[in-house]
Amino acid sequence: MDKILIRGGTPLQGEITMSGAKNAVLPILFASLLTDENCVYKNVPDLKDVSTTVKLLENFGVSTKKDENTLHVLAHNIEKPLASYDLVKTMRASVLALGPLLARHGYARIALPGGCAIGARPINLHLNALVSLGADISLNEGYVTAQAKKLKGTTLCFETTTVTGTENIMMAAVLAEGTTIIENAAKEPEIIDLAQCLNKMGAKIEGTGTSRITIEGVSDLKGVEYEIMPDRIETGTYLVAVAATGGEVVLHNGEAKHLQSILTKLTQMGVDLDLSVKNQIKIKSEGKLKSVNIKTEPYPGFPTDMQAQMMALASISEGTSFIAEHIFENRFMHVCELQRMGAEIDIHGNVAQVKGVSHLKGAPVMATDLRASVSLVIAGLVAEGTTEIHRVYHLDRGYEALERKLSQLGAHIERVS
Ligand code: EPZ
Repeated sequence: MDKILIRGGTPLQGEITMSGAKNAVLPILFASLLTDENCVYKNVPDLKDVSTTVKLLENFGVSTKKDENTLHVLAHNIEKPLASYDLVKTMRASVLALGPLLARHGYARIALPGGCAIGARPINLHLNALVSLGADISLNEGYVTAQAKKLKGTTLCFETTTVTGTENIMMAAVLAEGTTIIENAAKEPEIIDLAQCLNKMGAKIEGTGTSRITIEGVSDLKGVEYEIMPDRIETGTYLVAVAATGGEVVLHNGEAKHLQSILTKLTQMGVDLDLSVKNQIKIKSEGKLKSVNIKTEPYPGFPTDMQAQMMALASISEGTSFIAEHIFENRFMHVCELQRMGAEIDIHGNVAQVKGVSHLKGAPVMATDLRASVSLVIAGLVAEGTTEIHRVYHLDRGYEALERKLSQLGAHIERVS
């Protein structure tokens, strides 16, 4: 089992380039199932979740070829539309195979993802929506079996906005008979990226980025060449790291327009941001920042995927911050690890009260989920002494070359087996 050692206290300086977005490339890879022609994706990040998705696709009978950050995918025919539990349990986004397999092949058998560290993570909204498109869904032995001769367009409304639920239904509806309208759709930028890729394949999708998406079914989709959008959560993570350590850093491929809620909060806390150059964010911080109040909400609200990182920053900011988690029921797993480093955090239901301390102390800590682990990296970068982070495989799911990028900025970080 690898672990990461960080010796804290060094301000970050220099420049790095953001990678392709994990939460855009995953649905886009599953969209390859919708065509029997070649798909070529550029700016694909080298992540564990991407290799898991590639394994899932290959198990379906899809052929793939990786060439650095370019991935070729050809779903000429679907031999075995089965996503087994051993893969699905490591990546909940496997549920995104349901919509495209149903649309293209009329049948899919996907292991139920089960819960994860941040919550129960049910997929009832996905399944109910697929039923309203005419799918026949049955659950047995921990698997979902979905069948449909031909999906039929309909109007449906999600009772809760769901990112992958919206993506799953979009991919099911592109080959359905007639038109589908999704009300209360999620508005994340990754959904816009997926729709842009699908439309380039010949789909007819309008309205992504708003809460009403209209999909007009077509008979088939063509192959595509598509470049994945930059990762806004990776960008936000590095901004918070620099805010915490102090220093001056340029993030290339940083898309400010996808990060407004984070940039607003960081500015309130006292960092300097320079957005004058396109596709680039320059951040400067003295390291001692003011407290902040945060409430996680669906996009364009403050992203839940940035909550843990902001908690690490709040724990060394002046004053008391209140951080409310409104999306997942158990996304405070990083709190007890931050407390082991000296953070003063009290939990009241879904609100964390974070009293800023003058400094954190390095300690052995354990990562529990992807974003909790990176909040421990941020804490380690500012803590006195050395921090040892265990179970770092969580990090590898969502951050490409984390140690290389942070070392490039002057951090003392290394991975040991
Ligand atoms: C996506 O997960 C992201 N994953 C998550 O990122 C992100 O945290 C989340 O959206 C919220 O922004 C990918 O895009 C691959 P939801 P998703 O469905 O789609 C409840 C990361 O760190 N719900 O929008 O699974 C659910 O429990 C990951 O990169 C149901 O009740 O999230 C949650 O409380 C973590 N039934 C809320 O809705 C359902 O059928 C929103 O979840 C589906 C969801």
